[in-house]
Amino acid sequence: MRTTLLKCAAAILLLPSLFLAGRLVMPAPSHGAETKEDRGPLPPLMEEMSRAFRRISRQVKDPKQNEATAREIVAMQTALLKAKSVLPKRITDLPEAKRAAAARRFRLRLIELFAALLQVEKAVLEERNEEALKFVKRMEVINAECHEELGVDQ
Ligand code: HEM
Repeated sequence: MRTTLLKCAAAILLLPSLFLAGRLVMPAPSHGAETKEDRGPLPPLMEEMSRAFRRISRQVKDPKQNEATAREIVAMQTALLKAKSVLPKRITDLPEAKRAAAARRFRLRLIELFAALLQVEKAVLEERNEEALKFVKRMEVINAECHEELGVDQ
């Protein structure tokens, strides 16, 4: 009886140590979680663009906010210019035969977005707010089309 009790106590004490030792040898599955570095340089740039674009969209109709809107436009341009010269992981991971065409298309669409953003800037500086709004809408369309094409859940 005493031996059985001792065996049970030893097992209870040993089990957690065996579990921990196992974890050291075989780390817990990551469930597909990626670190920031794994995702490449594009996501934080897209986040920056998104923050500025939200403010631009909110303010663009109001001439009283043109100065603040112009500042957000520059913030978005800065991130967009960087985004234009990197590639998303989903393109660098493509087989070589498909990569060059996808990279070219990605860059062309960002150029298109940049051109629309320059039109927004020009219209805001010239206080043509209704016109600026039209180009903001154009940017929304480019955003939606590109994300859909590349399978991005924003
Ligand atoms: C107004 C324009 C745009 C806004 C506000 C925007 C915003 C965003 C946001 C918030 C994300 C998620 C970032 C994250 O996961 O942390 C994202 C991801 C992404 N966007 Fe955009 N985007 C815009 C235009 C575009 C365009 C024009 C393209 C393609 C030419 C594009 C391609 C992508 C790709 C590939 C990702 C996934 C990045 C990754 O996880 O590797 N986006 N975008």
